[in-house]
Amino acid sequence: MAFEVNELSFAYANGAPALGGVTFTVADGERIGLIGPNGAGKSTLLMHLNGLLPESIGSQSPVRVFGEAIRRDNLGLVRREVGLLFQNPDDQLFCPTVFEDVAFGPEQQGESGAALETIVATALEQVDLAGFENRSPHHLSHGEKRRVCIAGLLACSPRVLLLDEPTSDLDPRGRRELKSLLKQLGVTQIIASHDLEMIAELCGRVLVLDQGRLVAEGPTHELLSDEPLMLAHGLECPHGLAGSGIAVGPTSAADRVKR
Ligand SMILES: Nc1ncnc2c1ncn2[C@@H]1O[C@H](COP(=O)(O)OP(=O)(O)O)[C@@H](O)[C@H]1O
Ligand SMILES: [Mg+2]
Repeated sequence: MAFEVNELSFAYANGAPALGGVTFTVADGERIGLIGPNGAGKSTLLMHLNGLLPESIGSQSPVRVFGEAIRRDNLGLVRREVGLLFQNPDDQLFCPTVFEDVAFGPEQQGESGAALETIVATALEQVDLAGFENRSPHHLSHGEKRRVCIAGLLACSPRVLLLDEPTSDLDPRGRRELKSLLKQLGVTQIIASHDLEMIAELCGRVLVLDQGRLVAEGPTHELLSDEPLMLAHGLECPHGLAGSGIAVGPTSAADRVKR
């Protein structure tokens, strides 16, 4: 299992609970969608999965990554194995050149010289940005920035990618390219998104979060075509799935809603 999350609850220092009793597993190699309205807790959940929030750290951690609780002594390893793509690329890119940005992670892992250059070149090739090494990340399009961020994660050879609304500000071409990249990558992926057409295309299974609770999980096409379920949680059936008749009726996914 890539992740085993058991009764994860969390509240930010100033307020209301952001996650309540969230329990699920993600198999190694699975591509899974995380959907729900704004404020549902999607980003907060992703941050727990690579130990960015202290609640998820310690031997009693509610989050296990590849069988291990996230602890202080394996936090570095977890962060390497589980790459998080932030929603806003500008939060992730901070170097004057694309090379330096992509090289940052592997450098931290002790890579240097020709080996480092090869790692960076390979990662840039994977995202179709070969030759962008000397460009400034801040003068790239949104789609290109996003791909530089992904290259930076791939350069660390992660076993998992957590993607927080990866298509939110992309134009149709950027979105198409990103989808095809994610499809090609063999690593485990959790994709938080409002882009339900992309989720339907890429993910076999989805988790639905609302107000910090996991309210449904199951096969993507079944849940996304369940109009009452989607409407109840501030979502809507993507075109092409709405009214398809899948899973409507007594076996509706809504009946499997938890809690
Ligand atoms: N840094 C923060 N401090 C306090 N509350 C936060 C912070 N980040 C998010 N929240 C709150 O936690 C809840 C979940 O937010 P978030 O995980 O960002 O949801 P989503 O990604 O699904 O939109 C929301 O009520 C949000 O207002
Ligand atoms: Mg979010």
